[in-house]
Amino acid sequence: MIHNEVLDCIRSRRSTRHFQEQQIKEEELEILLEAAIWAPSGGNSQSWLFTAVQNPQALAKINELLKAGFQHWIPDDDYPGKLGAKALAQKEDCHFFHHAPTLIIASNRPNYENAMADCALALENLFLAANSLGLGSCYINQLHWLRNDPGLRDYLLELGIPREHTICSSAVVGYIAKESGVPPRKEGTRRIIK
Ligand SMILES: Cc1cc2nc3c(=O)[nH]c(=O)nc-3n(C[C@H](O)[C@H](O)[C@H](O)COP(=O)(O)O)c2cc1C
Repeated sequence: MIHNEVLDCIRSRRSTRHFQEQQIKEEELEILLEAAIWAPSGGNSQSWLFTAVQNPQALAKINELLKAGFQHWIPDDDYPGKLGAKALAQKEDCHFFHHAPTLIIASNRPNYENAMADCALALENLFLAANSLGLGSCYINQLHWLRNDPGLRDYLLELGIPREHTICSSAVVGYIAKESGVPPRKEGTRRIIK
């Protein structure tokens, strides 16, 4: 196995789900957002918008809106991942952001076919940058699932995310309180045709 800084950073990145309360430094947030915007984008569109939310009341409000939204919008015959989240949303102590101090919401212009791909690539850049700084991070999907929830959209508009934008994905970041285990990689997912 070859080791260099980039490959080691890719391999050692983990999804963190236990964060310290302490906020990350401003210069760390700047580095993460800068890493995101260096990602490739379809046709060099760069039409994404990354909104970092660090206000504790705003984070709590978004979490509450998600919890409520799950009960309204996710049908009982949806797929298991969503039903698991719906059940979780009914619990008092449910916190979709794992109590991380920073949430970064990736949105993009509407009716743009590469919206999700561009934002996903940008977030992976951000995750790797976070790992390189010793920060924990995790992809958070619930905002995408509930992207059309009117209450959530009203609030995101208040935070400056244009109403017409589609919410592609989000990420949480913070100092790691507990390291995550390493999920083994599945066999048989690579092929080379010569
Ligand atoms: C599209 C996508 C959605 C995900 N959604 C969530 C999520 O909502 N909450 C969460 O805690 N982790 C989420 N994850 C993280 C995965 O659970 C995690 O990447 C996977 O278990 C492998 O672990 P690793 O990232 O440490 O290698 C998501 C990852 C991806 C790529």
